[in-house]
Amino acid sequence: LPSAYNEANRHYEKNSPEREELLSALQSLRGQLPKKVSSVINGQEVVSNGQTLETQMPSEQDTTFAQYSSVTSEQVSEAIESALAAKQAWQDMPFNDRAAIFLRAAELVSGKYRNELCAATMLGQGKNAWQAEIDAAAELADFFRFNVSWAEEIYDKQPTLHSPGQAGRTDWRPLEGFVYAVSPFNFTAIGGNLISVPAIMGNVVVWKPSPYNIYPSYLVHKILLEAGLPPNVIQFINGDAEMITETVYKHARFSALHFVGSSDVFRSLYAKSGEGIGKKLYKDFPRMVAETSGKNFHLVHPSADISNAVKHTIRASFEYAGQKCSACSRIYIPKSASEQFFREIKQELDHVIVGPPEQFENFTGPVIHKAAFEKITSAIDAANKDAQIETIYGGTYDGSEGLYITPTLYRAKTVDHHLFDRELFGPVLIAYVYEDAEFDSLLDKIDQQGGGFALTGAIFARDQAAVRKAENRLRYAAGNFYTNCKTTGAVIGQQSFGGSRSSGTNDKAGSMNLLMRFTSPRTLKEEF
Ligand code: ALA
Repeated sequence: LPSAYNEANRHYEKNSPEREELLSALQSLRGQLPKKVSSVINGQEVVSNGQTLETQMPSEQDTTFAQYSSVTSEQVSEAIESALAAKQAWQDMPFNDRAAIFLRAAELVSGKYRNELCAATMLGQGKNAWQAEIDAAAELADFFRFNVSWAEEIYDKQPTLHSPGQAGRTDWRPLEGFVYAVSPFNFTAIGGNLISVPAIMGNVVVWKPSPYNIYPSYLVHKILLEAGLPPNVIQFINGDAEMITETVYKHARFSALHFVGSSDVFRSLYAKSGEGIGKKLYKDFPRMVAETSGKNFHLVHPSADISNAVKHTIRASFEYAGQKCSACSRIYIPKSASEQFFREIKQELDHVIVGPPEQFENFTGPVIHKAAFEKITSAIDAANKDAQIETIYGGTYDGSEGLYITPTLYRAKTVDHHLFDRELFGPVLIAYVYEDAEFDSLLDKIDQQGGGFALTGAIFARDQAAVRKAENRLRYAAGNFYTNCKTTGAVIGQQSFGGSRSSGTNDKAGSMNLLMRFTSPRTLKEEF
C-alpha cells in the first residue's frame, strides 16, 4: 500500500482560484438551505416518521442550517441488524480491498468534495476557511490514509520466534459484535476517524453524529459509499440521542463505544454499559474508547520568549472560539513577564476580528448554539462582577444575530479561583500571575487543578532544566504536552492525541493503538 502522508493545506489567498472555488461552494450551499439530511440505513436514505428537528447557523440564528427527522427505535434496530448482516462479508474482504476504499475516500476528500466539505463545516459549525480546511479537508484525509497505514502494520505484526515443530500467528480479528460511534460537533474529521478506525479493522458501525455536525457528517458517509464502502457496513443514524443509545445498549452484540464528546456524557455511557454487563446482557465486555474534554493549560516560565507565548496563546485559546477540546483555557504567567505578556496580548487581540465564517478577514467566529452561548456568557457575567477577577481583555458578547463572544482574558487574584477548574468550551481564558520563585510549587497546583481533566498542556521556556522538571512533575496532567508551542493542532502521524483522567481513555486518536482497540486478537499455534 502507498505510504501515508499529510494532506497539504490550502491557503485561500485573496483572488486565488481556491478561494474563488470555496466562495462558489459557499454560495451554492446557501442556496440549498435549510439542508435536509436523511439518516442512511442499509445504504438507503430513510424517511422517518419520527419528529423533525433542526439546527440553526451559529453565525445567523435566524437561518436554519439543517433539518432532519429522528429515526425511530425500530429503525435503530434495523440499522444494527443490517450492519450485523454485513459483518461476515466485510471482515472476509481482503484487507487491501478494504484499505482501497478508504484511500479512495481520502482522494475524494482531497479533491472532488473538498469545497463542499469545507463550506458545510464553515456554515454549519461557524469555522472560518482555514479552520475548516485543517479539519474537513486535511485532517479527514489524513485520518483515512494513516489509519490504513497503521492497520497494515498491525496485520504484519506476527510472532517471529517459533520452537521446532511449531508455528504461530496472530489473527487480528475484528470485534464480534458492532461498534457504536458517537461524534461531536466541533471536528468533521473526528466523525471520520471514529468510523474509519473500526471499519478498517473489519468492524461494522452504527454512527450517530452530533446534530450540529449533521450535514458535514452526512457528506463523509456519502464519500465512503462513493468510494466503494458496502452500503450496510456503516449505518448513519440521527435523532434523539437517548433513545438511540437505549436501543443500542439493549443489543447483545454491542461490542464497543467509540466516543468523542463531553466527559459527563461519556461518564453516563460508561456507567450504562456497566448495567448491561452486570445483567450479562452482552456477548462481550463492550470496549469503552473515548476522548472527552479538557481544561488545558499554558505555563509560561520566566525564561520564555514572551512574544512567542503570546502568539501561541491567542491561537490556542481563541481560534474557533475556543471550541477545540485541546483549547487552552488557563494560563500561568511569571510576575517578571506579566507586564509584557498582558501588553502584547492586548495589542494583538486588538487586531483579532470576530465575525461570520465567510468573511476571510475574520480570525474567529461564533459559538455553536444557544445553550453553549448562554453557559459561557453567564460565566462571563459572573466573572465581570467578581471582585477576585480583573478583566484584561473582552468580557463582552453579542448574540443578537450570531453567537459572538469577544476573546476574553481574565486575571484571577487567587490561583484557587473556580475558573481554573471549570470547562466552558468557549473563548475565555483565565490567567494567574505567579511569583517567579514559586515555579516549583506551582507545578503541583497545575497538576491538581483543571477540573480533573488531563488532555493538553504546554510550557513556554528557554531553560531546558525547567522544561524537564515540568515534563516530569506534570506527567499525568496532560496526554499531549508541548514545549514552546500551543496546546492545539496535533497533526495526524506526527502527534497522536488524547488524554487520561476525565479527558478520556487515552487510546490516542492518530495512532496504531486506537486501531488495535477495535480488534479482538486470536493467538494461533500449530504443531506439526
Ligand atoms: N486534535 C485536535 C487538536 O490537537 C483537537 O487541536
